[in-house]
Amino acid sequence: MRVASSERRALVVGAGSGVGLRVAGRLAAAGWHVSGWSRRGTPADVPRPGPEGSLSFQRVDVRDQGAIAAALDHDAPRPEVIVYAVAVARWGTVEAQAPAEWADMVTTNAVGAFTVLHEYHRRFGAAPRQLVGIASDAALFAAAGRSGYHASKSALSTFLDSYREEVRHTGSRVTVIYPGKINTGLSPRAPEVNARALQPDDIADCVLHILSLPEHVEIRSLEMSSVSLPYGVSARQPPP
Ligand SMILES: NC(=O)c1ccc[n+]([C@@H]2O[C@H](COP(=O)([O-])OP(=O)(O)OC[C@H]3O[C@@H](n4cnc5c(N)ncnc54)[C@H](OP(=O)(O)O)[C@@H]3O)[C@@H](O)[C@H]2O)c1
Repeated sequence: MRVASSERRALVVGAGSGVGLRVAGRLAAAGWHVSGWSRRGTPADVPRPGPEGSLSFQRVDVRDQGAIAAALDHDAPRPEVIVYAVAVARWGTVEAQAPAEWADMVTTNAVGAFTVLHEYHRRFGAAPRQLVGIASDAALFAAAGRSGYHASKSALSTFLDSYREEVRHTGSRVTVIYPGKINTGLSPRAPEVNARALQPDDIADCVLHILSLPEHVEIRSLEMSSVSLPYGVSARQPPP
């Protein structure tokens, strides 16, 4: 059953740039009422919502539980869909990387998703109807010099797999997407590599499709990569 237009409310966490911003813009263009969160709040280029949609932004740091709770109060009525597209990525060997930097990746990329859902349940007394978490092929392939990012992505994906079991009786659906390289500014990368990578619209296409499926269909995991880049290529990169 399709959700009526008036009920199509989505929260995109990590909507300041890249994939999250593209997903937020595409959902709003398709008639959804979208709230986008990030540390910067309103991004430099705000996409135009479609005639029935709307798009607003809030400054929320997912490491700040109080800010999440306050932002959910602001977003009522409750968004039925959450897309978690937050990430920070910092490379470094175990010897070189500061423990605080390593921990911050796990806190931002994984614990943030837990805190958002924890506060969502406390605020609304229910699970979101649908949740899409953007993990990474980093959750599937090991790589030297990237242990913090890879660990954070594994933590996010296994957390969401567990959360799916926790809310299964409610009919909520939980999807984890594992993309290969995407053309965004998440990490420094040669322009020629970004040109051959997945583009943010490729991820947005998948998210919109997943959200359009009938309620009995749950895409639990989705691995995707650009055909012109080897899948799991990060595993074969030399340490920085
Ligand atoms: N780029 C790739 O090659 C690639 C590959 C596989 C998976 N992914 C995944 O795709 C997702 C989107 O990343 P992206 O490539 O689009 O990178 P991006 O453009 O850097 O987007 C990351 C988003 O996270 C937000 N963010 C970071 N720290 C935050 C915090 N503490 N609180 C709230 N928001 C925060 C950023 O906004 P602010 O800076 O304003 O907070 C930004 O909106 C991530 O989950 C990433 O791991 C990316």
